[in-house]
Amino acid sequence: MKNTAVIILAAGKGTRMKSATAKVLHCIREKPMIQYVTNTAVRLAGSDVIVVVGTQADQVKAVVSEVYPDVRFAFQKEQLGTGHAVLCAIPELCDNIEHVLILCGDVPFLKLSTLTKLIDAHIWQKNIITLVGSVIDNPRGYGRLIIDPQNRVSRIVEEADATADEKTIKLINTGIYCVHRRSLETMIRQVRPDNTQNEIYLTDIIEIASKQGAGIGMVKCEDSNEILGINTIHDLEKAESVLMTHEKP
Ligand code: UD1
Ligand code: MG
Repeated sequence: MKNTAVIILAAGKGTRMKSATAKVLHCIREKPMIQYVTNTAVRLAGSDVIVVVGTQADQVKAVVSEVYPDVRFAFQKEQLGTGHAVLCAIPELCDNIEHVLILCGDVPFLKLSTLTKLIDAHIWQKNIITLVGSVIDNPRGYGRLIIDPQNRVSRIVEEADATADEKTIKLINTGIYCVHRRSLETMIRQVRPDNTQNEIYLTDIIEIASKQGAGIGMVKCEDSNEILGINTIHDLEKAESVLMTHEKP
């Protein structure tokens, strides 16, 4: 995967965890959360992995570097949103990079096979953005995918900004994307914090691309454990139980 880099977003405090420790430092089965997705990323992209750090940056860097010494870091001083976190990582991308995978540090169980499926679809369909979507029974807390009459993803609406109707949508954004590098650089600079949380949402690049008529694709992941996003202590407990169930006797 010579022309593909991975950006992992891990700078957030994790306010919903209600803890003084940065979210990605919380452990699942005694292993810091950030090490899970970093492992998958390194297997895919080797040294072309950039982790965006901010909250407790030195500690996050230490737990990553200890196991993955080739991973590089970008610093997000203020946590202004997932889009802003990506903006902070862009200067770290090497010149040869054509495709950028964006992953979240709080989605630990993502499989390598899902990422290769995502990249294959992205390249084969010549998309500008390809994302991983999932239909789940309880979509609460996730961004919802809005599908246009041509059956393409045209927008992502966050839970906090969704109407009652939009909240009934079960097709969610897993926070995993593959984006054409040059288009990402242009689109991410166009995102404005015009939402209820006043954040620069990465998810807004979908609507920007859609309005330009750019190709947006989706691959589905049917395993709700694989795309589990950890935002609360309850989610963390769920992650523990997922690993318990998968553990061999
Ligand atoms: C995000 C997506 C949502 C998706 C969900 C999947 C946005 C706006 N929303 O929501 O559509 O369904 O993930 O799990 O992207 N982070 C930073 N810097 C920041 C803010 C966040 O690095 O300024 C990092 C966090 O540390 C975390 C990741 O980005 O690892 C996602 O942030 P989080 O606040 O958990 O977003 P969600 O609300 O889960
Ligand atoms: Mg999250």
